[in-house]
Amino acid sequence: MERKWWHGKTAYQIYPKSFMDTNGDGIGDLRGVITKLDYLKELGVDIVWLSPIYCSPLADQGYDISDYYNIDPRFGTMEEMEELLAEAKKRDIHIVMDLVVNHCSDEHEWFKKACEDPDGKYGKYFYIMDHKKGEPLPCNWRSYFGGSCWEPLPGHEDKVYLHVFHKKQPDLNWENPELREEIYKMINWWLDKGLAGFRIDAIVNIKKKLPFENYPADRADGLCSIDRMLEKATGLFDFLDEMADRTFRKYDAFTAGEVFNDKEEDLPLYIGDNGCFSTMYDFAETILNRSIKGWYDMKRVTPEQYKNTVFMSQKRVHGVGFLSNIIENHDEPRGVSHYIPDGECCETSKKMLGGLSFMLEGLPFIYQGQEIGMENFTYHSVDEVDDISAKDQYQVALDAGCTPEEALAAIDHFSRDNARSPFHWDGSENAGFSSGTPWLRVNPNYPSINLAEQKDRPDSVWNFYRKLIRLRSDPAYTESVIYGETIPYLQEQHNLMAYFRRGEGQQLLVMGNFQKQPQDVVLPDTVKQLLINNLPDLSITDGTLHMEGYQFVVFEA
Ligand code: GLC
Ligand code: CA
Repeated sequence: MERKWWHGKTAYQIYPKSFMDTNGDGIGDLRGVITKLDYLKELGVDIVWLSPIYCSPLADQGYDISDYYNIDPRFGTMEEMEELLAEAKKRDIHIVMDLVVNHCSDEHEWFKKACEDPDGKYGKYFYIMDHKKGEPLPCNWRSYFGGSCWEPLPGHEDKVYLHVFHKKQPDLNWENPELREEIYKMINWWLDKGLAGFRIDAIVNIKKKLPFENYPADRADGLCSIDRMLEKATGLFDFLDEMADRTFRKYDAFTAGEVFNDKEEDLPLYIGDNGCFSTMYDFAETILNRSIKGWYDMKRVTPEQYKNTVFMSQKRVHGVGFLSNIIENHDEPRGVSHYIPDGECCETSKKMLGGLSFMLEGLPFIYQGQEIGMENFTYHSVDEVDDISAKDQYQVALDAGCTPEEALAAIDHFSRDNARSPFHWDGSENAGFSSGTPWLRVNPNYPSINLAEQKDRPDSVWNFYRKLIRLRSDPAYTESVIYGETIPYLQEQHNLMAYFRRGEGQQLLVMGNFQKQPQDVVLPDTVKQLLINNLPDLSITDGTLHMEGYQFVVFEA
């Protein structure tokens, strides 16, 4: 595997709307990001991914772009974006934006023109089909946010357009070379501005299985999951390779693909030496226990499932490329609330989870707030929900016969708002995020979980993350921490997640006791110096480590 400039880095995802508001309108902004660059530097971050800040009606919080070449005024101006790039550069921080090109907004000029003249140039930028009222739609796919993925084309009763996400996110027709050219031009325009690269949104969806056809319905609504179509679609890599050739490869840009349900044999095509992306997220743990029926039917992930799934991903990718490791992002519950059993979320268990994920092979992405152990919050009513996906899932649960309380419990855990609530900077009003009214509720636990409280406390979650980052960036450990193979240790021992990172001439042993009860672990006799411990003490007798509940340690071994 070829070594790349970004391999030993630590990445951080900013959800700008909820990061830092500097003008009191309750919405985080670019100025807020600029003012926090020193903070990111202090934490040890090298790559920053900004969720979308382009012009957008914010129907899906910016993942519905109405102008790819401009910054939404709610977030700031292009001058501020340029200032951010320049200030980040001074600090050796690489800025990455979101690339959302499976769809645009229905308020994008392309779509408006397509509505004016569906048979003209811009009509061909989308999937527009004839449809007579009362007749079946072109196919029965269910959009990711619920309901049919076909919607009447505004102004044309006899036509419908395709949207695999929200109806305000019409799909772009990648089969059309003219559309692809527009996208490459836009990507290069941003790379020329000094952007380091992109996180690439929902990208597997750009290749449709054509002609449109029905698949067996999987819910009472008579529709089927988009996944059925994606399983059948072929030729995705023709598009991805062309895009990489025309854009990213020319700039040695860093790219992280949002790839779900990839096929085994595709891994090298995505992230191998000649792959179309630098890296892609490991979602194997994220999707554990998902149910085709909906959120209300999802089960919690057990520590054993987590461990075995992680090990499978690690084995699969070693020697091929670099995955990106996460415990959460803006679409997922807070990792500590999701993977740690209810009632056991505490600083020790949060550090253990962060440590287990951080020490894996691959690129760690911290999602804003993860570094201080931010948690899910509790909804009192569905009216408090902003996330369009959660609103749909509430209805899905009711339709399946859940009581309103059960439906609320499902979205309580999985709602994307959990991770999108504002960052807790300090214990002052609104957690120091905004002097106005935050656009989304601040988690009421901010007086106890906030950065100001943790920064000067040596045993805080924040200082633990700094330690992890420091270890990753220590050149003395590059061969093990960055390039070492992950080799499970005592994989059969219940609720123990332990692994070696075996590299050229050096080896580490990483261990987490993934339960609240203590347990004994026999150490290999190669164990040497202790590098990290999430508790003040270590107890070893006769080669056996007595691990406290949720203890996490890293040894040279
Ligand atoms: C990705 C984004 C998500 C968005 C969707 C549609 O999954 O992460 O937030 O809703 O794509 O763009
Ligand atoms: Ca603002």
